[in-house]
Amino acid sequence: MRIETPPGIPNHAGSPQALTLKNGSAVSLATYRPEDKEALVSMYASMSPEALKWGLPPYDRARIERWTTDLANNIDLIARLEQKIVGHLHLFKIPFERRKGVGEVLIYLHQDFQNIGLGTMMMKKAIEIAKEKGFHRLGLTVVADNHAAIKVYEKVGFKKEGIARETFYGDDHRYHDEVEMGLLL
Ligand SMILES: CC(C)(COP(=O)(O)OP(=O)(O)OC[C@H]1O[C@@H](n2cnc3c(N)ncnc32)[C@H](O)[C@@H]1OP(=O)(O)O)[C@@H](O)C(=O)NCCC(=O)NCCS
Repeated sequence: MRIETPPGIPNHAGSPQALTLKNGSAVSLATYRPEDKEALVSMYASMSPEALKWGLPPYDRARIERWTTDLANNIDLIARLEQKIVGHLHLFKIPFERRKGVGEVLIYLHQDFQNIGLGTMMMKKAIEIAKEKGFHRLGLTVVADNHAAIKVYEKVGFKKEGIARETFYGDDHRYHDEVEMGLLL
């Protein structure tokens, strides 16, 4: 089943938006287009183990193709420095009528672009677009030890809703809790 975008509401972020990060570098923020695929595959391939430590790899070509097959219903934002993609946000619209207007978010930034404000800016933009598209709620799951990510999600309005105990098996060979977070739009 597909949930269609309400008529008259654009499913794109408009023209690329210029962002100045806390370290002075300038990136542009835009919606993903099919021709961005190779650059996105390259970004994930160049992520350090540390940057992926709290993720669910592999972030390979097959995964990226799955994410980007339904661009009309989902929201994919990319941050770019010249030809290189340095950040990706994927907002997935859950395709069941009983989950009408409910989306799930994930975000990954290249390690050289973390902790300089980009994640916060991308989340704010995604929330703005989700509101325009008529979403009701955004949810996400984050490892409880991923403090920078939780800080960003709380800054943009997400609330902690619950804990899934010891569900993430880390590179440290230990189980970690995950936090369920949500934002009502
Ligand atoms: C998580 C991620 C998206 C955050 O984006 P970002 O651009 O690095 O974050 P920002 O710079 O916008 O904000 C980070 C905030 O966390 C704070 N922070 C950083 N490290 C922290 C820590 N260890 N504990 C608490 N706060 C921390 C920063 O001070 C900043 O808050 P401030 O703006 O109030 O000073 C990004 O770092 C990333 O892609 N990480 C790797 C992949 C990942 O973990 N994705 C999330 C999976 S759920």
